[in-house]
Amino acid sequence: MRSTSPPRTYRVKSFGCQMNVYDGERMSELLAEQGLTPAADGADADLVVLNTCHIREKAADKVYSDIGRLRREDGTTPLIAVAGCVAQAEGEEIMARAPSVSMVVGPQAYHRLPEMVERAAAGQRATDTDMPAAAKFAALPARRRAGASAFLTVQEGCDKFCTYCVVPYTRGAEISRPFDDLLAEAERLTEAGAREITLLGQNVNAWTGEDAKGRAIAFDGLVRELAKLPDLQRIRYTTSHPNDVTEGLIAAHGEVSKLMPYLHLPVQSGSNPILKAMNRSHTAESYLRLLERFRAARPDIALSGDFIVGFPGETEQDFSDTLQLVDSVGYAQAFSFKYSPRPGTPAATMEHQIAPGVMDERLQRLQAAINRDQYAFNRKSVGLRCDVLVERKGKHPGQWLGKSPWLQSVHFEGDAKIGDMVTVDLAEAGPNSLRGILATQAAA
Ligand code: 5AD
Ligand code: SF4
Repeated sequence: MRSTSPPRTYRVKSFGCQMNVYDGERMSELLAEQGLTPAADGADADLVVLNTCHIREKAADKVYSDIGRLRREDGTTPLIAVAGCVAQAEGEEIMARAPSVSMVVGPQAYHRLPEMVERAAAGQRATDTDMPAAAKFAALPARRRAGASAFLTVQEGCDKFCTYCVVPYTRGAEISRPFDDLLAEAERLTEAGAREITLLGQNVNAWTGEDAKGRAIAFDGLVRELAKLPDLQRIRYTTSHPNDVTEGLIAAHGEVSKLMPYLHLPVQSGSNPILKAMNRSHTAESYLRLLERFRAARPDIALSGDFIVGFPGETEQDFSDTLQLVDSVGYAQAFSFKYSPRPGTPAATMEHQIAPGVMDERLQRLQAAINRDQYAFNRKSVGLRCDVLVERKGKHPGQWLGKSPWLQSVHFEGDAKIGDMVTVDLAEAGPNSLRGILATQAAA
């Protein structure tokens, strides 16, 4: 049974990638604009938005169990909206299978959430999985809140069609948001307290547009323009695709001091036959050459990547090529996943799917190598003095948590506040974070 009075409180739960986190924030802003208030921690909300991810394993199953868990002891449920990539891919099934869901809204249609909420409160269920990406951004309210570090979606969608990936189907074709809009949103974010902005896109470095004077610019041009904002101290971006890397972007890492020395450049596999079957259109060697060029422009750059183990047909030799690539790069951080067949993607029906046990074992070996390199990178940082942007309080009284330029988590004690850029001596390394000692404190 659903309550039918208008909702007063809401909760948005986001799963998956940083773009989903961004979308979740924008949905919260829309609901706040509509007069709803966020439900307090632990309290029941009148409206719950499940902002779902479809990239890997059992995404839909998870959504159904999350929906089930929203049922209250008295048998009622809040108003439930399923948003995100599972909504896009499986919206109709969700509506048919889960009567307690009253709204299904795709990642390109959530600007229409307020109308859907009004109708849902009156008892009408609705599905909206249209894909007018540009219309969405134009219809969203201006940003009001931001932490020290904020996300800004500049590009969405993907035209690359890697054979394992669902994103071209859930997020649609590549679109770039106009420069003026991005500049305005970045300004609002800094006014709201953001000192760091991470530019987001499924292929963020495929962004193109025109600057304020109407000249065509590429992604590095966007970075250079945003770097002119006086209150913005750090710029990051994710995720980039090797094929969209330009000379200008590499050069920007050497020239733009606000662009942080960190690069997330997924490779997925170190084996050329597997890369070919994945339709990656780069080789292990061309990827390594790209990284060398980044390192030449910015010698201290921290490198990060994504890997999939157990892609169909992956032999022990293919996998050891991946391990070898990892050894030769020395990643500061990397993400690795077991291959998960996604319905509707070409790889899902390829021959020679890999047994789960083999995948488990390969994932463990790969993660051991990645963890080893991450720890080594952290240990190598000990003794350095660097800026840390303070993002939140630590677990212990008087402790603060922030990020180094190389995206390492750094905790330290002393006089600071959120949003400060402090100077810290890196004193001790753990596998996932570093302990710093406050040196001097720069003005906020
Ligand atoms: N199975 C496993 N991992 C995947 N990724 C994308 N699709 C799949 C899939 N079907 C991983 C890739 C990508 C990251 C966001 O998720 O490594 O870079
Ligand atoms: Fe998940 Fe991809 Fe959708 Fe992000 S874009 S939520 S990673 S499926």
